[in-house]
Amino acid sequence: MRKNIVAGNWKMNKNLQEGIELAKELNEALKNKTVNCDVVIGTPFIHLASVVNSVDTNKIGVSAQNCADKESGAYTGEVSAAMVASTGAKYVILGHSERRAYYRETPETLKEKVKLALANGLTPIFCIGEVLEERESGKHFDVVKSQIEASLFDLSPADFGKIVLAYEPVWAIGTGKTATAGQAQEMHAFIRKTLVEKYGKEIADNTSILYGGSANAGNAKELFSNPDVDGGLIGGASLGVDKFMPIIEAF
Ligand code: PGA
Repeated sequence: MRKNIVAGNWKMNKNLQEGIELAKELNEALKNKTVNCDVVIGTPFIHLASVVNSVDTNKIGVSAQNCADKESGAYTGEVSAAMVASTGAKYVILGHSERRAYYRETPETLKEKVKLALANGLTPIFCIGEVLEERESGKHFDVVKSQIEASLFDLSPADFGKIVLAYEPVWAIGTGKTATAGQAQEMHAFIRKTLVEKYGKEIADNTSILYGGSANAGNAKELFSNPDVDGGLIGGASLGVDKFMPIIEAF
């Protein structure tokens, strides 16, 4: 059966020392606890190796927030999937709406990133989600479906089975305006149905679909109680153990 996952996305926050401190605090908080979900933290690239060495990686998976769409070579400023994997990180967040919007990531470049992530043994946490105008004009299901199709539906069933999806309505990210539990469940069920049609029931049932967008200690329980919501991708509320732990414990 699919896993429940609570993943933090630190975005461009915390310098190296602060990041190590936060990772250690989370590690401490989880030390003697049994939790009912996998815990992941998505840190800036430069934190990865140090954070991997600061936590029990059996309890906390470490994730990058991006990787290059090229294998290696003359791409100044880029970080390859192989480099991410070499730090001991196990996950990579790909296709976050901030990267799509501000760094013009396209379905085609994301397709390459996904392939390289998988080839290097990383689990992609692949983000999808509509902007407000798309929801208001009733296009949200089509938008999300085409984001999945364009970047992921070339994958073999075996490779698709390694993907984690994160539905993040753009209008809910960092706005304090969470999707209702009903809206989240409705979209997650639609996504799973889309996966059934392409890859069959078994793969669809085994795919973890996380919700992201202003999830916090106050709403996590209700969001996670939906049958098709398998966890969360948490931005702001992952930047402090006091806010992140209650989300983990919502399962
Ligand atoms: P937020 O961000 O929880 O701060 O809304 C979620 C995300 O962008 O992954």
